[in-house]
Amino acid sequence: MQDGIKAPTDLLIGGAFRPAESGRMLAVEDPATGETLAEVANGSVADAQAAVDAAHAALRGWRAASAYQRSAILRRWYELQIADRDNLARLMTLENGKPLPESQTEVDYASSFVEWFAEEAKRVYGRIIPATRADKRLLVLRQPVGVVAAITPWNFPAAMITRKVAPALAAGCTVVLKPAPETPLTALRLGQLLVEAGAPVGILNVVPTTDAAMFADAWLGDERVRKITFTGSTAVGKELMRKASTHVQKISLELGGQAPYIVFDDADLDLAATAITTAKFRNAGQTCVAANRILVQEGIADAFTERVVDLVERMRVGKGSDEGVQIGPMINERGRQKVLSHVRDAVAQGAGIRIGGGELTGPGYFVAPTVLTNVSPKMLVMREETFGPVIAIARFRDEQEAVDLANDTEFGLAAYFFTKDATRAWRVSEALEYGIVGLNDGAFSTAQAPFGGYKESGLGREGGHEGIDEFLETKFVSWGAVGTGI
Ligand code: SIN
Repeated sequence: MQDGIKAPTDLLIGGAFRPAESGRMLAVEDPATGETLAEVANGSVADAQAAVDAAHAALRGWRAASAYQRSAILRRWYELQIADRDNLARLMTLENGKPLPESQTEVDYASSFVEWFAEEAKRVYGRIIPATRADKRLLVLRQPVGVVAAITPWNFPAAMITRKVAPALAAGCTVVLKPAPETPLTALRLGQLLVEAGAPVGILNVVPTTDAAMFADAWLGDERVRKITFTGSTAVGKELMRKASTHVQKISLELGGQAPYIVFDDADLDLAATAITTAKFRNAGQTCVAANRILVQEGIADAFTERVVDLVERMRVGKGSDEGVQIGPMINERGRQKVLSHVRDAVAQGAGIRIGGGELTGPGYFVAPTVLTNVSPKMLVMREETFGPVIAIARFRDEQEAVDLANDTEFGLAAYFFTKDATRAWRVSEALEYGIVGLNDGAFSTAQAPFGGYKESGLGREGGHEGIDEFLETKFVSWGAVGTGI
């Protein structure tokens, strides 16, 4: 690893860093060069179980701590993340490939969840319900669900962790975390910062592994684990849901998206074109909320396309640590081949390439930012998540057709649309079958608001006030014989 960058390489279990029980290691690769950056302990089933033992042992003390005590630890964790911003950002750029300014923004985004849930910890309210009998009191209590298993992806190596772990800890739960094997260093560093924040031993255990299925079996087969929270593919989410039925564990899923990006002919075209550079090229298009199907009203399609091509021409692709780079590599060769296969399929079915269209020569997994025109609904770019820097532009005639095209998918995570008409703004916001709608906005993600999808894009919400509810049980206490008052 580069000089001066700090990250542990052992598993964090029970408040201490230790090697994997099997002694196995996993190689972490720099996607900008294909070279190995570091070797990290590769957890086995014994480590998965040891992590649950530690989280379970920690639960009694952590759930009994006051909300203010939990809040103070989270606040300190937040402050340490801010102090470590440069280190965390450089780590993320190394193991994920995203440009350094984007990594810095991700540290801010990730830590904002910790700050937000440090406050929300203090606002977990129960209620008292008026009873039908005068000598009864009906109380509703909110209590932590217990040990939580969190499984997180590589595309946001910090934020997808804090958005799960912070509300879980705030609620009084303890956590076992399996970060993506592509980006374990950021996860281990976050764990180390929590230990430095004075966290009680075992409230967060971080266990990277290359054996995701074995971990899922170990955690979903353990009745001490009461909640699974996962971000990743819909296929894996469905499998986890099936397995969670054995012990009826609670489950939150943040799964795939197929975001439509609708530009109406009354939109501010400069705004719509500029916003797509974030909605599409953030993390080189490797986000679940990436604009995937660009639907443009026919009268303005050429003008919009020209603006977008002009912006894309000026975007710099390269190693995330190089000055001025805006688009980094795909995470690996498999990711790159998927993007290229979508482009080939579109071209074979009649799409035109306005710019880009292929891989970049040299080391690393780079794909040129691409704009495709004459795109139609049967193409892969319109049916599946491309997860890469490809803008695929299709045309529509009227509002009803745009909404029908947008909703014609099993996914329902995020949708974007651009209009200056306030009545249309209402109508279309309500008609879109999506958990998140960006109205004249290409960047909506924020800790204060609920994030999650309709349909096969998931279950539950992260962030916002809703984010902590996912980690709370509701208990009803019916208190009799209290007397009838004076
Ligand atoms: C994701 O891609 O799943 C997360 C994107 C975000 O938080 O904005």
